[in-house]
Amino acid sequence: MNRKNKLPTMYWQDNRLHLLDQRFLPLKVEYRSCENCDQVIDSIKEMSVRGAPAIGITAAYGMVIAAGEVLEKCDDREILLSALDEAASKLVKARPTAVNLFWAVERMKEVLLKHRESPPQAIFDNLLEEAKQIHDEDIKNNRMIGFNGAEMVPQKASVLTHCNAGALATGGYGTALGVIRAAVEQGKDVHVFVDETRPLLQGARITAFELIQEDISVTLITDSTAGHLMAKGKVDLIIVGADRIAANGDTANKIGTYSLAVLADYHNIPLYVAAPLSTIDMSVESGEDIVIEERCSSEVTHIDKYATSPDEVVAFNPAFDITPAHLITAIITEKGVVCKPDRDRLKKLM
Ligand code: MRU
Repeated sequence: MNRKNKLPTMYWQDNRLHLLDQRFLPLKVEYRSCENCDQVIDSIKEMSVRGAPAIGITAAYGMVIAAGEVLEKCDDREILLSALDEAASKLVKARPTAVNLFWAVERMKEVLLKHRESPPQAIFDNLLEEAKQIHDEDIKNNRMIGFNGAEMVPQKASVLTHCNAGALATGGYGTALGVIRAAVEQGKDVHVFVDETRPLLQGARITAFELIQEDISVTLITDSTAGHLMAKGKVDLIIVGADRIAANGDTANKIGTYSLAVLADYHNIPLYVAAPLSTIDMSVESGEDIVIEERCSSEVTHIDKYATSPDEVVAFNPAFDITPAHLITAIITEKGVVCKPDRDRLKKLM
């Protein structure tokens, strides 16, 4: 059976970035083509592309596209460098929580620093090579996360996941879903419960879509069903992704992850966070220092263009929450598994 992701999250072709437009999944498979940096920024803001590693890779290609825009008009290095400075500062403002966005732009800036005396075309070529490398590395890292994490999955297991930390949230293969994929590839009998993940339904629309595509056994549940399932003894473990992990192990992930962690603790169910090292931000001490994105009220008051609440009501819509480290059984990375994560254990890994 082909267990490879059939639809790439993104691809580079004809000097453009083509992003699978995840807003329309699963109803429509359509790629959004970006030929200028503003289109890349809009794609991140509007969540055509989403998931921490995927927005990092997208931003890296965004820098390449910004360089290409200048090269089309002139061959002046100073103009190119100042346009890239501006592009970098606009890209990092696209979304505030996932650290992979800042990490990827930083990597692109290092390439710029190294090649700033080179001719403009060489700067472009080096940026493109780096973006492709960030993309390839992400897929390799996810496979290692999958390999390291599969050990945590019993031979027969019922796994709960939240949001989408799959191939489509990354360069390919996925983090939390990468662990599930790897366990299935090893012949384990895995059933996945997927939280629908209100308000934007990444679980229902994207995770369920990925699992169905790959013939992995899946049941969709409403977010509020998770506790009931745990109480009934139907969940063996929980695996989620991360948008940013603070130095002490506190983890920002999709809103609702914290509630799952409290429920898991109450029911004595292990909760694993699967993430690449690029998601660990040693510059923030704890979850309190992580900026939580607040998105617009209409994402909650409406589904698509249909109102699901009175016109007058305003919704509070934080996109992420913080799960304290003490509620996390282990963090699974490409370099190894950190049980009972804390500052010292994470530092040793970096
Ligand atoms: O708002 P989103 O869809 O970008 O949120 C995504 C998540 O919370 C994921 O769990 C996280 O980015 C990890 S993706 C491997």
